[in-house]
Amino acid sequence: MDYLQDPRFEGIKPFEGRIWLSSPTMHGDEQRYVDEAIRTNWVSTVGANINELERSMAEYIGVRYAVALSSGTAALHLATKLAAERLYGQARPNEGTLTGKKVFCSDVTFDASINPVAYEDGEAVFIDTERDTWNMDPVALEKAFELYPDVKLIVLAHLYGTPGKMDEIRAIAKKHGALIVEDAAESLGAKYLVEGTKWVETGALGDYNCISFNGNKIITGSSGGMFLTDSLEDANKVRKWSTQSREDAPWYQHEEIGYNYRMSNIIAGIIRGQVPYLDEHIAQKKAIYERYKDGFKDLPITMNPFDEAKSVPNYWLSCALINEDAMAPHVRGEQDQLWQHICGKSSPGEMLDVLSFFNAEGRPIWKPMHMQPIYRLNAFVTVEGNGRAQSNAYIKGGVQDTGRDIFQRGICLPSDNKMSQVQQEKVIEIIHRCFD
Ligand SMILES: Cc1ncc(COP(=O)(O)O)c(C=O)c1O
Repeated sequence: MDYLQDPRFEGIKPFEGRIWLSSPTMHGDEQRYVDEAIRTNWVSTVGANINELERSMAEYIGVRYAVALSSGTAALHLATKLAAERLYGQARPNEGTLTGKKVFCSDVTFDASINPVAYEDGEAVFIDTERDTWNMDPVALEKAFELYPDVKLIVLAHLYGTPGKMDEIRAIAKKHGALIVEDAAESLGAKYLVEGTKWVETGALGDYNCISFNGNKIITGSSGGMFLTDSLEDANKVRKWSTQSREDAPWYQHEEIGYNYRMSNIIAGIIRGQVPYLDEHIAQKKAIYERYKDGFKDLPITMNPFDEAKSVPNYWLSCALINEDAMAPHVRGEQDQLWQHICGKSSPGEMLDVLSFFNAEGRPIWKPMHMQPIYRLNAFVTVEGNGRAQSNAYIKGGVQDTGRDIFQRGICLPSDNKMSQVQQEKVIEIIHRCFD
């Protein structure tokens, strides 16, 4: 479609350079630390950059220990495995630690949050999403414990940098004797007011905590992740597992399965150079969120919500949700989609196609895990209970599926912290014209 021929977009020209969803923002110090590592020959998985990065991130997040790993996914894998070993003991080398066990998981998240459950041969049970923060719904979680009282592990993510309802979820976990793996990959720098008394960073709210330094995150090393804990024993175990699980012997001696998951000192140098800019990046992302919020006041859309009293997001991605009565027809298949324009309405399909035409990158809301073909047969629990097989050919009605609804009506907006105010105003104008 050539939107230059569409009178709705008259006078708007494509951006010369692409406006990204969220791209790396380098400052110069990164180069210095990388060069220093190369000059001093610390080109390995040990070195000053790793040590300093672990120290500074532990301090920032307020935990005793941080273990630098090759990715957030690696951190989540080892966090999940550690929780599973504590609950169910060490598995045989050819078996996952979650064999035969169910785990309650966030539903609207990136699949890396919850794939480690499958790596460890466990079965994810997806918990529906609430509307106040777009994270795991505590009411649905409580329902899930009614349906599956034996479950002892919860894996939850803070979507797009917005903390979930941690007081409620931690209380439910405590009541049922369950552990929490916290995926703070997207929410580094976001805070939550625990029980009305203490502000705690995401990444310090679970029993096992993870962050990511992937290229699209709020600070990055191109890749990288971290496991965060107050337990020296857990930190040591993750360090051991991440470096092939070597025992204390003069030769290669192994009593457990190992992984090559440690962070490189080169990558650590990039991230070390980024850490001092974390708060600046958050402030830029917040300004982007607020400009969108203000710019959309007269449109039938709302921004991704958060609890103002109990949380401070890092505003990693700004998102918009189209009001139900302003949704134009938009259907998605497994790999293709079809949308139709109707005057006064729009759809995620239309908005993303138009933004892309004008050279700006948005993205659909992460497709819920319970809708993914790979997890199509896993259980899904909503506030009403079992979320599968709830319609009836002979009776009108269906299941209340909040994750599906947010996926259908929402989009992630261009949220790059290098986007200028003028560029963002043009993005806002393009979205206005989608509704003309
Ligand atoms: C919520 C969430 N969890 C986990 C990950 C995985 O992190 P990584 O890419 O560092 O492996 C990501 C993003 O990449 C993510 O957004």
